Amino acid sequence: MTPINLGIYLENFFSDKKQRLSELYPGLSLNRLKDELEQYARQKKINVDDLFSSRYIPSNTNPITSFFDNLIKGYPLEYIRGRAHFYKSEFDVSETVLIPRSETEILVETASSFLRDWMKMSDERLRVLDIGTGSGAIIISLLQEMHRPIEAFATDISKDALEVARRNYFNLRFTIPRESSLRLIHTDRMSELLDEKFHLIVSNPPYIKKREDRDFVHHQVDTYEPHLALYLDDDKYDEWFRILFKQVLSSLYEEGIFIMEGHEDHLEDLASVCSMVGFSSVQILKDYTNRNRFIFAKK
Ligand SMILES: C[S@@+](CC[C@H](N)C(=O)[O-])C[C@H]1O[C@@H](n2cnc3c(N)ncnc32)[C@H](O)[C@@H]1O
Repeated sequence: MTPINLGIYLENFFSDKKQRLSELYPGLSLNRLKDELEQYARQKKINVDDLFSSRYIPSNTNPITSFFDNLIKGYPLEYIRGRAHFYKSEFDVSETVLIPRSETEILVETASSFLRDWMKMSDERLRVLDIGTGSGAIIISLLQEMHRPIEAFATDISKDALEVARRNYFNLRFTIPRESSLRLIHTDRMSELLDEKFHLIVSNPPYIKKREDRDFVHHQVDTYEPHLALYLDDDKYDEWFRILFKQVLSSLYEEGIFIMEGHEDHLEDLASVCSMVGFSSVQILKDYTNRNRFIFAKK
C-alpha cells in the first residue's frame, strides 16, 4: 500500500465504511471521529502535534491500526479510548466496568439535592454509600458536587471494577474536598457494611433480566460490556432486590434516602417490594425520555 497521511486515510476510511459506521455508532461524524482518534493517540502517548499530516502505514503493531480494527468491529468508543465522560468529568473505563450512562446523571443530581437539603439542617458529616460502583462515576461525582466533606463508601462484587474506581478516585482526588473520604469495598451488595449507618444510599445495580429482556439489549452492549454489570437471573430477580432493600433499609438513619436506578419494565414491581420491606415512602422517578427509571425511597 502506498503510504498516505493519516488525515487522508481517516477520510477515506470514513467514506468507505460510512454505512457500517452509522449502524454501529449512530450520529458519528468525521469531525467526532477525528477527535476520538486524537484523544486515543494521546492516551497511547503518541505525539499529536501533527498527527493527521503524519505518514500512516497500517501494521499489526501500530496502535492506530488497532483503533481502526476495533472501530469496524463495533467496539464501544469509550473502551477504545479507555475514557468516558460522565457528569462533570472524564472517567477511566475498561471492559471490566459498565460505560457510565447519561441518564444516571439524574441520580447524581437527585442525590446531590437531597444531601444539600440535609446539610442545611445539620452540621454532621454525612455518610453515603454507592452499591455496585463500577467505574465509581456516581460516588465520585457526588463527592465532587458537595462542598462539605462526605464520608463515602462504595462496593462492588468485581475486584477489577474496584481497581478502575480506585484509579478514578486517585485521578480526580484534586476535584474533591480534602476532608472527604472514599472507602472501596469488595462485597456482595453491602454485606460487609451491615453494621454501618448511612444518610444516603445510591445504586445502579445490574437490572436486566437475563432471559426476558436480553433480546432488547443492544448487540454492542451485550457483546462488550460486562454481564456482571448488566444481568440478573430471571428467577432470582425479585429475591435479589428484596435482600438488597432489606439491607439498605436497616442501614439507613431515620429519614435516610435510597435512590436506585432500575429497568423501566420492572420498576413498579420493585417499588412494591420496596414498600413491602418497610420504606415509609416510595416514588418512581422518570429519565430524560420520560421512562420509569429510578426508585426514590425514604426510610
Ligand atoms: C449497572 S453497573 C453500574 C456501574 C456504575 N455504578 C455506573 O452507574 O456506571 C452495576 C455494577 O454492580 C456490580 N455488581 C453486580 N452484582 C453485584 C453484587 N452482587 N454486589 C455488588 N456489586 C455488584 C457490577 O460489577 C457493576 O459494576
